[in-house]
Amino acid sequence: MCGIIACAGVKDAARVLYGGLQDLEYRGYDSAGISVLSGGKIHTVKRAGRVGAIAQAAAGLGGSCGIGHTRWATHGRPSDANAHPHVCGRFSVVHNGIIENYAELKKELACMGCTFFSQTDSEVVPQLLERYYAEYNDLKQAVLSCVSRLKGAFALAILCEGEEGFVAVKYRNPIIVGTGGGAVYAASDMPALSGLAENVAVLKDGQIAFARGGKISFCDFEGAAASLTFSPLPAAAKSVRLGGFPHYMIKEINEIPAAVKNTAAAFEGEDVARTIARAAKKRGFTSVMMCGCGTAYHSALAAAYYGEELLGMPVRVETAGEFRYRKMAVGADTLFVAVSQSGETADTVEAARAAKQAGATVAAVTNVPYSALTGVADFVVPVRAGTEICVAATKSYCGQIAALAMFFAALKGAGEYRSVLSAVKGAEALCAQTISRTVAEDVARACASSSGVYFIGRGIDYPVALEGSLKLKEVSYVPGEGYPAGELKHGTIALIDSGTLAVAVITQCGLAEKTASAVEQICARGGRAAVVCAEGCAPAHLRERAEFLIEVPACKSCLSPLVSVIPLQLIAYRTAVILGRDPDKPRNLAKSVTVE
Ligand code: AGP
Repeated sequence: MCGIIACAGVKDAARVLYGGLQDLEYRGYDSAGISVLSGGKIHTVKRAGRVGAIAQAAAGLGGSCGIGHTRWATHGRPSDANAHPHVCGRFSVVHNGIIENYAELKKELACMGCTFFSQTDSEVVPQLLERYYAEYNDLKQAVLSCVSRLKGAFALAILCEGEEGFVAVKYRNPIIVGTGGGAVYAASDMPALSGLAENVAVLKDGQIAFARGGKISFCDFEGAAASLTFSPLPAAAKSVRLGGFPHYMIKEINEIPAAVKNTAAAFEGEDVARTIARAAKKRGFTSVMMCGCGTAYHSALAAAYYGEELLGMPVRVETAGEFRYRKMAVGADTLFVAVSQSGETADTVEAARAAKQAGATVAAVTNVPYSALTGVADFVVPVRAGTEICVAATKSYCGQIAALAMFFAALKGAGEYRSVLSAVKGAEALCAQTISRTVAEDVARACASSSGVYFIGRGIDYPVALEGSLKLKEVSYVPGEGYPAGELKHGTIALIDSGTLAVAVITQCGLAEKTASAVEQICARGGRAAVVCAEGCAPAHLRERAEFLIEVPACKSCLSPLVSVIPLQLIAYRTAVILGRDPDKPRNLAKSVTVE
């Protein structure tokens, strides 16, 4: 949700910032902007639209230090005026997060004669900085005074005329600082620093970095000196390019086998299993509570089917945003499992914090080992899907299903763990087979011309139906819903007519007839039907009735969601392409939702 970058001590700041913004564009693409310091003055370009919109104007800016921003709009529509950086007097500022008390600050500043040029919450920051700088004539004091007035979540990068360098501030939204080749950098995420920084450090909440003359120093919000440990930029945090694929979505679907393989590799050896088992034994918990948002919520839902059956104890699942504002029974006897690809989704991180405060043991299931969520958690359950750029999650979902299956198996004991680990290793080939054999084109054409697409499933196939529906909606904008197959007849069947398509997921042979009868009911009302089923699962009458049938290899039930989801991802992708949408950057969305 907004990407920020800063650099100091480089030859061409505008070029460095522009390159970094391209790597951060997945965080928001409503507008982009850059400020550089050159000849002692701040020069700014900013435009509504994607990062490419500033390419020409940024090219000639130069400068040796600067800041940049790519925006996902929260306050104020996407426009040139609302684009960051926001400038006031000698200050230019980029912000990721939400200043919750902006309205009262704006009122106070307006009464003092300040003029605002945007509808954003962020513009209060340069206004406050300018005011405090005029009062103290000292950059550090101005920054400390400013942050003491802010409530909410804020990662900031600040440029000040007359001060060669930049300031970076972190509170609840990420800032990673880096050094290399005599230059200093800061960014919202590590891939934006690849090729620039050699060593990196993650700022903690309440820390400020001052980059001056090729050096970087740190303090806390009280002004006391702080120290950070730098380590080499992880090889995995590399800048990712399309490499011959037309979109990241299809590239990342093709990377699912590697995501499953690498996630299994992270569980090889006894370390991860031992950590999980030890945490469980120490606390002797009696229930599991799982949370996530969007796709991560769906992978948690799917995993809970296996977890509850295996452990014989309640495994509840709630969306993170609901969990926080619901008084759920969570305490010292609860194992809380937070699932998040990015590890920085505000709702999920705050849910984990709340669970921890309530005394629960918190496990973070995440693809980003240095994320905010790992900082909150007692232990980490690794997902190794690799950097995911497309806003629509694909390979990370499959990595999560694999990691969660191994997580529950580790809680059960060594025998189950060995069996699931070997099944996960085998799933790599099943995924590869599914990707190469699935022909999604005809179903995608049907989706593209449908007034609504209803995804149905029973048991563990139901969360997969939810995920299929989410994927189609977010990348193609075709409306629809995911539904438990048995529930359709209790209301939603009223929407079925010749313009609608139902996609049924059937991987559990024992439930096949039940879901098949829902398909019969849909067809009887003139609806069209597509079926994604495990080999050998589809009853003969369903084969005749369904207009489209996609078979996937059968596998261990707890892993079936990571195979059966692939045709649904491919259908969503092809539908988006047929309709001329950009599947990588759907409208109104951003990959990391770091605001509540
Ligand atoms: C998935 O395709 C979405 N774009 C979205 O639902 C996402 O899964 C959700 O925002 C959670 O993100 P996280 O896994 O990074 O926490």
